[in-house]
Amino acid sequence: MKKWYAVLGDPINQSMSPAMHDHWFQENDVDATYIPIHVTEENLGETVASLKRLGCSGWNVTVPHKSAIIPFLDELDPSAKVMNAVNTVEVLADGSLRGSNTDGEGFVRSLEEAFGDRCQNDQVLVVGAGGAARGIAYALHEAGYGPITFTNRTIDKAVRLAEGISQASVVSIDEAEQNLAAYGLIVQTTSVGMNFAQQGKPIDPKNVSTGAVVADIIYNPLETEFLIEASENGAYILNGTGMFVHQGALAFKKWTTIQPDTEKMIGKITVNLGGKLC
Ligand code: ATR
Repeated sequence: MKKWYAVLGDPINQSMSPAMHDHWFQENDVDATYIPIHVTEENLGETVASLKRLGCSGWNVTVPHKSAIIPFLDELDPSAKVMNAVNTVEVLADGSLRGSNTDGEGFVRSLEEAFGDRCQNDQVLVVGAGGAARGIAYALHEAGYGPITFTNRTIDKAVRLAEGISQASVVSIDEAEQNLAAYGLIVQTTSVGMNFAQQGKPIDPKNVSTGAVVADIIYNPLETEFLIEASENGAYILNGTGMFVHQGALAFKKWTTIQPDTEKMIGKITVNLGGKLC
């Protein structure tokens, strides 16, 4: 019987996950499909119950439900526990639901695909202190990167985040801007710079050191104002396409045991966004 998978979010129309997973199902001869479902917070529990009842084989969870979904699941893997957020749900053989989080590992894979171990001994600056920052910082720390410094508009949130990671510290945005040359890897995790939402940049990259790696998790536009200026100042840049594709590939592998072709997918999305949406 044909299997089906889904992504739950609000809004969900803009999601590229259905096209990506459907492409991988076809490419790998998996008889399955993947649908976007618009779910409001009030309907989240009811939707999870319906997905179970209707035989959904697994789903992704996106903004704003990554933490809210947790009470409706039976178990969490260590990544989801630490991040207190879930982006992938597997329906196990006994019907129970296991949540995990592939966002952070997706980022690390994308970074290493582009730059190998170039940043392994660098000081790391994470800009932002939300769920995305938490996931990425945790995965970087687990992969041996750091020490990690957080900076955020609301500094208290950065302080709380740093408490959970050994050797992590916090600086104000002003301090980070002045001392930017100290960091070999800078990761922008806020929504600032996203198309149609928030123009501008969360931190000024003019003091970045030549040859530093500057990453932004945003992929629409492919190059945010922050990335463009960092590049003009001599940094190597990485947009969020690779992270998006790798987090999806990690979920796909959990569901099907198949490792899909990520390189081709990154190319397809880059062409698509470059030609149509930016
Ligand atoms: P996510 O789960 O995607 O990380 P989030 O938890 O809402 O989303 O976190 C959003 C991050 O973007 C936060 O670091 C937030 O800063 P605050 O903690 O000060 O709110 C940051 N952010 C959002 N809009 C911003 C803006 N206009 N300027 C600077 N930072 C912004």
